[in-house]
Amino acid sequence: MSYNLLKGKRGIIFGALDENSIAWKTAEKINEQGGTFVLTNAPIAMRMGKIKDLAEKTGSEIIPADATKVEDLENLVEKATEILGGKLDFVLHSIGMSVNVRKGNHYTDMNYDFTTKGWDVSAVSFHKTMQVLYKKDAMNEWGSIVALTYMAAQRVFPDYNDMADNKAYLESIARSFGYFFGKDKKVRVNTISQSPTPTTAGQGVKGFDGFIAYAEKMSPLGNATADECADYTLTLFSDLTKKVTLQNLFHDGGFSNMGVSQQVMEAFVEKE
Ligand SMILES: NC(=O)c1ccc[n+]([C@@H]2O[C@H](COP(=O)([O-])OP(=O)(O)OC[C@H]3O[C@@H](n4cnc5c(N)ncnc54)[C@H](O)[C@@H]3O)[C@@H](O)[C@H]2O)c1
Repeated sequence: MSYNLLKGKRGIIFGALDENSIAWKTAEKINEQGGTFVLTNAPIAMRMGKIKDLAEKTGSEIIPADATKVEDLENLVEKATEILGGKLDFVLHSIGMSVNVRKGNHYTDMNYDFTTKGWDVSAVSFHKTMQVLYKKDAMNEWGSIVALTYMAAQRVFPDYNDMADNKAYLESIARSFGYFFGKDKKVRVNTISQSPTPTTAGQGVKGFDGFIAYAEKMSPLGNATADECADYTLTLFSDLTKKVTLQNLFHDGGFSNMGVSQQVMEAFVEKE
């Protein structure tokens, strides 16, 4: 349903790979709510082609950018403001990748070149994006920047591997840069800590089927879907949340505050 919540707002959406991507659902919903945007992804993801369907559907343009390359980000921000006809109101960072996870390297047996690469893609790219936006003064006052994260930043999920460390770093960047963006530009910066979600990045994590099922049984409201995550992100891009900043916001059906649930306990009680 459209409330025209984002009418007249302009932005950039990183990370729509296919129709399962959280960024893909968010783009569709922003479009429904009257917002306009440029889509971006790494050049390699472009070659996989699907993003073009989303661009057509939402009447948006695509500007490829490797989010670890500052020159790509500078080009992206310059072109996006030109195409959209002014400064930006929202930016979604929906990017994550661990080479150690991809190669199946255990947390106790990391290849540190892979660690550095994954950290750059998953965490430092958020700093790079904000630094480019900040230096180019590309955000409107009361604009909103959101990155997606996962609770492995606070609690142990053994198979989440070095992505747990990357997410902790990402959340810290949101607070540290959020201070300067708030003080100097009246822009808010938050992270959304989302439930396990069946996407390409999500399903790449070993044991994903187990922990999505476990989280479902632990959460009083059940896991949050990608669609629901998109809805939540819209509220943070709207003018209804102007003073929410420097927050890590759990969007997980209540999972993060649970100790144990009846359903999980029942799985461990010996049947007579
Ligand atoms: N799926 C989950 O269970 C889950 C849970 C919590 C948080 N998240 C986070 O949500 C975000 C989106 O992931 P998703 O689950 O929609 O999966 P996804 O695989 O659809 O999206 C990840 C995106 O990152 C992009 N990317 C990778 N390297 C890049 C680079 N160098 N430059 C630019 N883009 C690059 C990929 O092309 C892809 O579009 C990630 O930050 C992820 O960690 C996912």
